[in-house]
Amino acid sequence: MRVLGIETTCDETAAAVVRSTQDGDAEILSNEVLSQIAEHAPYGGVVPEIAARAHVEVLDRIVARALERAGLRLSEVDAVAAAAGPGLIGGVIVGLTTAKALALVARKPLIAVNHLEAHALSARLTDKVAFPYLLLLVSGGHTQLLAVKGVGDYVRLGTTMDDSIGEAFDKTAKLLGLPYPGGPQVEREAERGDPERFALPRPMAGRPTADFSLSGLKTAVRIEAERIAPLTATDVADLCASFQAAVVDVVVDRTRVALRLFGERAGKPNALVVAGGVAANQAVRRALQRLASEAGLRLAAPPLELCTDNGAMIAWAGLERLRKGMIDGLGVAPKARWPLAEAGA
Ligand code: KG4
Ligand code: ZN
Repeated sequence: MRVLGIETTCDETAAAVVRSTQDGDAEILSNEVLSQIAEHAPYGGVVPEIAARAHVEVLDRIVARALERAGLRLSEVDAVAAAAGPGLIGGVIVGLTTAKALALVARKPLIAVNHLEAHALSARLTDKVAFPYLLLLVSGGHTQLLAVKGVGDYVRLGTTMDDSIGEAFDKTAKLLGLPYPGGPQVEREAERGDPERFALPRPMAGRPTADFSLSGLKTAVRIEAERIAPLTATDVADLCASFQAAVVDVVVDRTRVALRLFGERAGKPNALVVAGGVAANQAVRRALQRLASEAGLRLAAPPLELCTDNGAMIAWAGLERLRKGMIDGLGVAPKARWPLAEAGA
């Protein structure tokens, strides 16, 4: 089976074709991503109107290129999948409407994919992880710990009560005068900084639920920065290193609690999976690797280009759903909000 996947929920316009083989393996035939970072950078963050317009301008070309690189015509795919939310509604409408039009003209099934589900299932594409597993989803828009029990079967063990971790990275970068998107910049600065110079809080540490809170940490960075202003290059590096060390501690503490909650609810997970843009962070990955080893689990982290938003994860989630006959009608609506699971802890 071959599925075309379209992703337009944020600031990446992406399309990909993924194929499942007879022995159950999967292969990415093409994976085209066009980032709008340059268009949003002057504003220090994603501007929804600019994003929607940019998706309209390039999506047709990106889809054509994905098909071409896969060596396929539209009539040769078995289904068309698109992220139908959650995300910036203008962009979601562009991607889903395009997918509907393609599905209609090619007379193929349409699959409306939840963007979070696509992140959640991508480790099955790259690492063949079997259900159930614990997922730490850390992106710009989301910070969640989920028990992934099957396609469409998720229990939310923890979520953030305020900012996402990606947002905390981005806001910290902004207040330190680093360009957008902040995550990779903060990581680069942190590499040459002193993680112990500033004593920053570890919000929620030791709490019995697996929820996160990040806004206090960002505020603590601001207070320290204001206290020692004007900042030297060393100050910026040390603030980044101290911030990142606090985030790492928080992630490990919260994930450890989620592992315990998982055990109580769903038995032993087959793996600890990390997905979303922040999973590109090497310090976060290393800490999770240690935690997984400690718990006797495998850590599965998709390669960097599949951690951030991409079309392959949408195509793959579409494939997983198609195999189960979970297809959608052309009347399916785009959704700005679309929780993957209700709180279950
Ligand atoms: O999953 P993603 O590409 O988009 C969303 O669906 O949100 O995640 C983007 C987020 C941004 O907040 C970005 O700053 C963060 O992931 N990010 C990082 C790193 N690379 C991207 N955060 C920390 N360290 C990184 N290396
Ligand atoms: Zn995402």
